[in-house]
Order: sequence, then C-alpha cells, then structure tokens
Amino acid sequence: MLYPQVSSTRQMIDLSGFWRIRFDPEDEGGFESGFDGGEVIAVPASWNDQINERRDYLGAAWYQTRFALPWGWRGQRIFARFNSVNYLAEVWLNGQRLGAHEGGHLPFVFDITDRVLDEDNLLVVRVDGLMAPDRVPPGSLAGKPGISFGRADYPDTNFDFFPYCGIQRPVLLYTTPQDAITDVTVITDINGTDGIVNLKTTHSAGTPLVTRFVLQGHGIDQAVESATGEASLTVNNAALWSPESPNLYQLRIELRRDGEVVDGYSLEIGIRTIAVEGDRLLLNGEPIKLLGFGRHEDFPVVGKGLLPALIVKDYGLLRWIGANSFRTTHYPYSEQMVQLADQLGYLIIDETPAVGLFFTEPGLEKRNALCKQYIRELIDRDKNHPSVIMWSLANEPHTAEPEARQTYYSQDFTVVEHSSRAEAVQAFKEQAELARALDPTRPVTLVSHEGATEESFAFVDVVSLNRYNGWYTESGQIEVGVQRLSREIDLIHQRYGKPFILTEFGTDTIPGHHAEPPEMFSEEYQVEFLSQYIAMLNSKPFVVGQHIWNLCDFKTSQGVIRMGSYNYKGVFTRDRRPKLAAHRVRKLWRNNE
Ligand code: GCU
Repeated sequence: MLYPQVSSTRQMIDLSGFWRIRFDPEDEGGFESGFDGGEVIAVPASWNDQINERRDYLGAAWYQTRFALPWGWRGQRIFARFNSVNYLAEVWLNGQRLGAHEGGHLPFVFDITDRVLDEDNLLVVRVDGLMAPDRVPPGSLAGKPGISFGRADYPDTNFDFFPYCGIQRPVLLYTTPQDAITDVTVITDINGTDGIVNLKTTHSAGTPLVTRFVLQGHGIDQAVESATGEASLTVNNAALWSPESPNLYQLRIELRRDGEVVDGYSLEIGIRTIAVEGDRLLLNGEPIKLLGFGRHEDFPVVGKGLLPALIVKDYGLLRWIGANSFRTTHYPYSEQMVQLADQLGYLIIDETPAVGLFFTEPGLEKRNALCKQYIRELIDRDKNHPSVIMWSLANEPHTAEPEARQTYYSQDFTVVEHSSRAEAVQAFKEQAELARALDPTRPVTLVSHEGATEESFAFVDVVSLNRYNGWYTESGQIEVGVQRLSREIDLIHQRYGKPFILTEFGTDTIPGHHAEPPEMFSEEYQVEFLSQYIAMLNSKPFVVGQHIWNLCDFKTSQGVIRMGSYNYKGVFTRDRRPKLAAHRVRKLWRNNE
C-alpha cells in the first residue's frame, strides 16, 4: 500500500486537528449523518487520557469532522486513508457508509471519488475498543487458566499494555490521477560489489502504458523503461544499506502514455540483503547482532497517538545507548517511525497485533482469520523498507496444553514432548507459509514464552523467546535464573539449530529506588540483572539478538502486579529520563566508550 504523497500528479491534505466526539455507551447508534454538540477531541490521539472521565471507556464513540474539497481535485480519483483506528472502525461520508475495518495500527483506504462534495463534507467514524475473546488482541477472558496469565486486570486485556483506543494516527485525503501507479515492490540483492534492484509496479490504466524508473543517488543516475511495469537495475559499487551506513537511493517511477507523464511516485530505497544461514543472521552477507529493545507507542495524554517529537526523542535514546534495532511490540508502529528507521539506520522486527492469542474457543476461527489479515496488511504496508528485516507472527501465544505446562522441564532439562496444542501448530504453520508467500525475502519469527516445547518454532527461521528468570521465576536470585536460562537457550539451540533472539528480558524498576546489595525493584537490581543477562547472551554465537524489555516505562491496565498501572521495566522512565541501568547498558553496548 503506497503512502500518499504530494507531487506534480498527486495531492494530499491531513485532517489532523480538533474533531468532535460523542460517546455512545448504550451503543444506540444513529449518528451516521452527524450529531450536534459532542466534545472536542484531538486527532490523532487516543481518547482515554484526553478526556478524564473516559480513561477506561472502550465502548462505542462517534467522531466527526467537516472538510471542503480542495480546488483542482475534482476529476482526480479521491481517497480517504486512516493510518490507524483502534480497534473497530466504521466510516460514513455525508451519511453514506464507506465501509469498516477491524484492527488497529494498520492503514485502510476508501475511494470517495463519487461521494465527496465540493463543499461541506461530513466525515463520521464510529470507533470501539472493546475487549473480546474473538478479537486480536483478545480480552475479556477473566483470567481463564491456560489461555491467559490467570489474572483479570481492568480493563480485562490478555496483554500487558493499556488498551488505548481511538483515531490514533492521521486521517489523510489524497488524490491520484484516473490512471495511476497502484503498487510498487522493491527487492534488492547483492552481486559482488554491485547492487541489484528488482522493481515491480502495477497501475490502474486499462491500456498498456510505459513505466519509467529513474534511480539516483551516490553518484548514479540510471533510467530504464518497461512495458510490463517490471525492471531490474544493476548498481555498480553500490552504497549498501546498513545501520552503520543507512545509504538510501531515490527511486522515481513514472507512468507514461505517448511520452507524457500520467502519474509519478517517488520513494527511497536501500540496497541490502537479510538471510539466515545455519544459526546465523546475515545482513549483506555478514553476521549481524541485534542490540535493542521492545518498546511501546505510549505517552501521557496522547496514549498511543502519533507524536513526531517522541519518535525523534526515542531514536535519540536508541542512538545514545548504542542500540541498532527494536521489535514493534506488540503491534505495527507508525509509518513515520519505520520511514525514519530507513533514514537513521535501525533494524526492525516488524510484529503484527497478535499478542495474547489462545487456541481454544471462543473465537478461534475468527482470531486465525484476523491474524492472516494482519500479516497481509503489514507486509503490504512495510515490504519496501530496508530497515524491516523480519516479520514477527505473534507475541507470547498461549500454545501449550495446560497439563504440559506443569511438567515443563525436568531438572535435567529433558524436554516435554508435544506440549503445543494442535490448533496452535496448524495456525502458525499456515501463517508462516502466508508470510513467506507474500515476502520470500525476509525471515519469519515467532516470539514465544513457552520455550523448547514450542512446536511452532519448527515453522520459523529465527527462534525468539521472552524470559524473566530472576524476576518472575527465581525471584531475587539473578545468578540462579541466568544459569537456568542459559541451559534452556542451549537446549532450544540443540533442538532447533536456528538463530536465537532473546526478545524480552528485564525487571520492574522504581525510578529513584535504591538498595545495596541489589534488591528487586531497585535500580541496582536492574543494572545487575541486565549486566548478567548480556554477559551470558554474548557468550553464545548463535544468539543473534538481545532486546531488553523495555526502552521506557509504559501504562498498563490496573492489576495487582502493576503499581500505579505502569510497567516499570523501562531503562528510561515514561518521560524518557535514564535510570542507572541506561548508563550501564550504554557502556556494555558501546564497548565501554
Ligand atoms: C511479557 C510480554 C510483555 C510484558 C512483559 C512483562 O513478556 O511480552 O508485553 O510487558 O512480559 O511482564 O513485563
């Protein structure tokens, strides 16, 4: 899915600003043609922290805004694009239903060419963020054992972050010509010192047109024309893309009829390869190690709303601490965040919104369908970004047969056979196949908390595990926990022989709380915990990534293990101030600079 842009053939306006919202707790509806009054609401942003009384409200809410059609747009194709609405969106324009979309954090578009008026258009969006077992991510499971962590927080999520909802990223109106470029796929390869850029485009014209590709940058200015919309360019002595040198080229695509430009689209591309070889992860043919974090799009007042200054700030923190990567936990991040990763040089594990999955009824078939929808939407959105190096199918799905969990590992770590539910194995087999079919160029991973008994590790290219030995287990005993985890990681490697990433490890740390000797929740404990984990992980060559949980403290539901409804595992506070551990990690990752 192309991101809208302004050019000699395309126009765009952003409807960000102050809209009106009317909450509809009885879900009476009837506001498709607008409503009087309502409350002021900022878009983009979650509604939960903007309006005090609505912090925990996840039910129906109706948004509305008005706009006029900019001069000169009539005669073009005109679209409305919602970059993210969480969780369920239904949209009307001037009282006419445009359609609906389920799932936050991924864009959806409506063609409004035949419905938009010249003046005084009324755009109405019904949104709800309700928790339900047949949604992804699921909720309202009341802590059922075997399909959740056994506690019912409020709101009752099956995941550990606050279920912010609303129109959380920009709503854009944009045009394309009647005959337009509709998709671009860029696949790069390396041949010796040359870069290979394979291009494939589609367009909406009914008649065959010429597609002209122009690639510029780093001393080159190459053009090639194609009657099929496909072409391959060789770049001699290519400036490859990597975190150290995020070299980008400018690609201009023109659709031409009789030499006249009908439509144009421009994007930045990076020439790089990513591959798994044995138990190594190779970037441009060289082993790479991912140093970074799980994060959240989370900040006071805006909730999960797009906040460009926060993106700049967080990339500054990542640079300062010596990180080169992050996972988009536990949902796709904004397109702005991914675009900057291309420009600044960060490696992204791009994760779908599939967190807290379980594989029994209620709702199994619908959850599986939603997971596939998200995989399609995510790959369609992010497939051309050099920073995106891996797709993550899910975070911590509850795949184990409950009884198996009781005899997880015996003391001598003899693995419990066949602990995964058949439904889970089937689901992830299909999802891994779908991801590879849509994008054969990137490795696929699954982030598990089950461990060596996670049978779906068989279907992925990279094994990812979250572990908190020394926190949730072996509490207060970091050394014991690290030794146990070290043996488990070795066991997983013996069993699967694939590259391994510890995708989460960390401790809740109250800023300013100190203890000597280190004690849980103290800053000293976080320093000791992370130091011992990093030393152990560095000792294993097949460990290709270490992602600390979390970059920053973040808001959660209310629950007995979340003081003040926060997860305090950040190495920075929620307002981005460093704890002691940030300084220690910086030394460890920047080789004691
Ligand atoms: C899990 C989960 C995170 C959660 C973390 C924690 O691993 O993936 O979303 O925040 O544990 O308990 O802190």
